Amino acid sequence: MTTEKAEIGLIGLGVMGANLALNIAEKGQKIAVFNRTTARTTAFVEQAGDLAGMIVPCETIEALAEAIRPPRPIIVMVQAGSAVDEQIAHLKPVLSANDIIIDAGNANFHDTVRRTKELENTGLTFIGMGVSGGEEGARNGPSIMVGGTEDSYRRVEPTLTAISAKFDGEACSAWLGTDGAGHFVKTIHNGIEYADMQMIAEVYGVLRDGLGMQAKEIGAVFERWNKGRLNSFLIEITAKVLGADDPKTGKPIVDMILDRAGQKGTGKWSAIEAQTLGVPATAIEAAVAARVISSLRDERLAAERAYGPAATGTISRDIIDDLELALFAGKIAAYAQGFAVMSTASREFNWNLPLPTIAKIWRAGCIIRSQFLGTIAEAFGKDAGVANLLMAPAFIEMMKGASPSLRRVVAISAEAGLPMPALGSALAYFDGYRQGRGTSNVIQAQRDFFGAHGFERMDEPGAHHGPWGSGA
Ligand code: 6PG
Repeated sequence: MTTEKAEIGLIGLGVMGANLALNIAEKGQKIAVFNRTTARTTAFVEQAGDLAGMIVPCETIEALAEAIRPPRPIIVMVQAGSAVDEQIAHLKPVLSANDIIIDAGNANFHDTVRRTKELENTGLTFIGMGVSGGEEGARNGPSIMVGGTEDSYRRVEPTLTAISAKFDGEACSAWLGTDGAGHFVKTIHNGIEYADMQMIAEVYGVLRDGLGMQAKEIGAVFERWNKGRLNSFLIEITAKVLGADDPKTGKPIVDMILDRAGQKGTGKWSAIEAQTLGVPATAIEAAVAARVISSLRDERLAAERAYGPAATGTISRDIIDDLELALFAGKIAAYAQGFAVMSTASREFNWNLPLPTIAKIWRAGCIIRSQFLGTIAEAFGKDAGVANLLMAPAFIEMMKGASPSLRRVVAISAEAGLPMPALGSALAYFDGYRQGRGTSNVIQAQRDFFGAHGFERMDEPGAHHGPWGSGA
């Protein structure tokens, strides 16, 4: 090992931290690592093989700080929440002006904004960095969404560029704005991820229950779709999971997995932020709620006994092509919602989020990676000010082509009693968004009737009240 200082440090050798550290070492960037338990640090270096020479194992946080070239960037990869605050408290006394603490976990961006403020008077800088791609991505190339000062980003840019996923040679890593920008964008990524996954599950449900198809047969449909407009990592892995057998029973593994989905919170945060910002993100909200309904398994079983099950095997195979287009239309609506949330947040928090860049760095490395994101990047590249993705010319054409299928699929599924929370709300969002004369005139009248809230008239400016006194 040379005595040359490490380029960067990392605290927390859990699965994500260890893989990120190996990725950094492999890209020729010397990295100093520290873990709360030294045994893990030792084991990590022992298992690093040829990369061990690029890793500086540190037994104390002081040694970690000492090992890095100033200004010292240190990635903190621990569980989101109080553990991050604890690490910051440990780091503060051993760091000095301009050193950079990088939180690479799935933090709530409000915490990132708070931490940035808390460090403001210390001379230290804070970066909130969203990292997507799971274990595999961390090791071989994640998508990296950075928030913090631009100066601090420039210090770590070469490292992040080197370790990130590449799409057509372009690094899927970018500085997106100050303080919480990176973690906010990662949160919305996860919200879209929830919607994407839920819509896929709903279509799987139609194929399984409406058409009575077996897992492998459904897997083949997804495999075919992955060659077309739906081409994406999530469709690819759906085909794979549907094709896999359970070693214990020999049955398709999906048929042995309990229909109860977990969640760690980022999808929910995404829906909460959308609501707080006043941006409709109905497909994302529906996806979060669907996970909650899925968790109520005992209640669902009791309700099925009370109401009877949905009709099964009643839908014709002719619907399969419609299902592909329905999924595509739903996906367009969900991404339109996610990007609309980011666009509003960008104004609200003065981030100036680069929407085309965000779409670009999601093309590879992350969970929602797909070619479709290239089309989104192009649309925002042509017109960054477009109010909603649904109004970008390329998307108007795509939605005109795909929305009739979404309508048919939602209608047929509703008839059969098959739940379509995300696809159904994506359709309602689309129909609501493109309805020139909506129905909220009645809501305004009701509000005025019971609360004298006033309403606007079609033919005259100003606030008005209805003739309720006489008519009531
Ligand atoms: C990613 C993922 C990841 C997330 C998992 C699990 O981008 O790599 O979003 O960050 O933790 O997908 O999330 P849930 O447990 O909430 O489904």
